Amino acid sequence: MKITIFGTGYVGLVTGTCLADVGHDVLCVDVDADKIARLEAGEIPIFEPGLEPMVKANMEAGRLRFTTDPEAAVAFGTLQFIAVGTPPDEDGSADLKYVLAVAETIGRHMSEYKVIVDKSTVPVGTADRVRDTVANTLEDRGAALDFDVCSNPEFLKEGAAIEDFTHGARIIVGTESERVMALMRECYAPYIRQQEKLMFLDVRAAELTKYAANAMLATKISFMNEIANLAERLGADVEQVRRGIGSDPRIGYQFIYPGCGYGGSCFPKDVQALARTAADVDYRAELLTAVESVNQRQKRTLFAKLAQAFDGDLAGKTIALWGLAFKPNTDDMRDAPSRTLMEALWDAGARVQAYDPEAMKECRRLYGERDDLVLVGDRIQAVKGADALVICTEWKEFRTLDFAWLKQQLAMPVVVDGRNLFEPEAVKAAGLLYFAVGRGDSL
Ligand code: UGA
Repeated sequence: MKITIFGTGYVGLVTGTCLADVGHDVLCVDVDADKIARLEAGEIPIFEPGLEPMVKANMEAGRLRFTTDPEAAVAFGTLQFIAVGTPPDEDGSADLKYVLAVAETIGRHMSEYKVIVDKSTVPVGTADRVRDTVANTLEDRGAALDFDVCSNPEFLKEGAAIEDFTHGARIIVGTESERVMALMRECYAPYIRQQEKLMFLDVRAAELTKYAANAMLATKISFMNEIANLAERLGADVEQVRRGIGSDPRIGYQFIYPGCGYGGSCFPKDVQALARTAADVDYRAELLTAVESVNQRQKRTLFAKLAQAFDGDLAGKTIALWGLAFKPNTDDMRDAPSRTLMEALWDAGARVQAYDPEAMKECRRLYGERDDLVLVGDRIQAVKGADALVICTEWKEFRTLDFAWLKQQLAMPVVVDGRNLFEPEAVKAAGLLYFAVGRGDSL
């Protein structure tokens, strides 16, 4: 099957590569000529485990190609996936200018039937706007051509994108057209071992499903963070509470880890966008607003704990920071809790000595060279000469630690653990002051 993918960002590149890998002919198009040139040279612009060899193998097999030519891209695939960015507007709603620009491009260049597939995370009603844009562009050209628009939201997690694409819980397609159903079935056939995995919904239901899924997961996290904060004040251990409630299958163990707040390109943006969509239809989404504000507050708890440990005086202190990425196995720092912490530390006059296995380049890109940010080559160097240690990301390599050794390195024996990596008793036995999330010690 011939497939065109607009946008070679995270979603576009993973989708294109995985579809090529099962034998489809895929052409990826992007307006960024530099990015396309780098991809053609085999350079992958994002860090995603397993993606690079898969891109290379499919390019070599001739099934995955890249272009900047919109006319060739529209001519190529019967399926035209839109996987371009939807950055948040000033008011939190998703900005559709790139999505609608692609719709116009398709309308301008198409010469036969096309199915336009909305893959980007877009607000409810976007498929209608895409349809109108294509129809208007065709009318301006005086062309009477048939086309369909469907919604096919993406449920990839960064760091596990290939696994999620190939073994996802479901594939959602929003369409009422039998013709589209048949084509989308053909597209995803290699991935469907269980027929019920491919779900056809109404277009608006499919669009809302994407936001509802992310908002539900974000709600679970904010809920657990709230319980953790409460546990701290009540002298209860949230880890025991987590095990206790997760054992109920109606609640489940997934996404109930308390921490220093959720980050990334999806949860923060999608929760805000859904609240904005609600406001647009005159509905006050109180729960969504609370999920967001609990998360903002949670991101600030790392700094609050440090500030209290140092009696409010962090000026001139050096804080070791392990983990910059918003989660392990990615170099992504969008809305990462580490950023809230670092910015608060700098405001308070402290220095940050940070290490992350993947995100140091990204950190430098975001903050540039500055005296109060030192990026070091490993976690050991990060604690050398530091006053205290904060852990922001649960990278595997941070999970074992010689507490007695750490005690010798730090000027003040303070460890703030935003990911509950260790047993408090073991850390305290080494003489460290250990402040995890919801594990008994409220500062
Ligand atoms: C999320 C969803 O999990 C995907 O299903 C969805 O497709 C994707 O957004 C998207 O909309 O594109 P992602 O943002 O890559 O994926 O990352 P997650 O693994 O979901 O983690 C999000 C944040 O929640 C991280 O900061 C993580 O540390 C935090 N988290 C997660 C917790 O604090 N506690 C948990 O129990 C789980």
